[in-house]
Amino acid sequence: MRVIIRKNAESACVTAARTIAALVHRKPNAVLGLATGGTPVNCYAELIRLHRQGKLDFSNVTTFNLDEYVGLPREHSQSFYSFMHDKFFNHVNVAPSRVHLPDGMASDLAKACDDYEQQITDAGGIDLQLLGIGSDGHIAFNEPGSSLASRTRVKTLCLETIRDNARFFGSEAAVPRLSVTMGVGSIMDARRCLLLVTGANKAAAVRSAIEGPITSQVTASALQMHRFATVVLDEGAASWLTRKADYQFAESSMPDPDELLG
Ligand code: F6R
Repeated sequence: MRVIIRKNAESACVTAARTIAALVHRKPNAVLGLATGGTPVNCYAELIRLHRQGKLDFSNVTTFNLDEYVGLPREHSQSFYSFMHDKFFNHVNVAPSRVHLPDGMASDLAKACDDYEQQITDAGGIDLQLLGIGSDGHIAFNEPGSSLASRTRVKTLCLETIRDNARFFGSEAAVPRLSVTMGVGSIMDARRCLLLVTGANKAAAVRSAIEGPITSQVTASALQMHRFATVVLDEGAASWLTRKADYQFAESSMPDPDELLG
């Protein structure tokens, strides 16, 4: 794992965005795996800024999102479909036909999950998967106890995630209990993983994911087994790492993340 620590959330988000931009420059028809949540909003804002400056063209890019709530219509303000369009797709030139999110309203959810996996395969696999981490250590909605070999499926949210996400819904009672989520195995198939984490409230989860044992109790820890996983943190998210000085020392002799993809 490559661990990059930035001074603040804003510069962590810019680093993540520049890494994605470098991939799209190198491979204009890249397949991007995307995440929702509070963390990546400024990463998307930076990608939009680069696009508006004429420096980034998404016309041949294909996207697959990690997850969606079950039972929320697309037009619901808190659906991940709405989130992605509000925060990113409506502001760049990704072709709507190349945008994919799991369908949480499908009448046959099991089949929709299998179809989603097939669509990713048909697109040639994900070149770079952007990820966030839950305070319980989840990636996508792979809650503690999720199989590290899991594929796209329906998953129950755990109580901690329902509490965390109540901020978007106004109350815990309004948060859906089920999601459709790419599995840990689906994520591990991506050619590169980019975990972006900001804020001291995630410091414990970050330490478990990076320095703890690999365990289904902290599904982000599976990234330790990925060949090309980069973690971009701000100082708060990095504050519980015991080897922080080593990561910073290693980073001082590494190329820029943009070059890493070159
Ligand atoms: C979102 C997702 C989740 C979030 C995680 C962190 O698509 O898959 O794993 O990345 O819950 O969310 P925030 O950024 O809101 O703290």
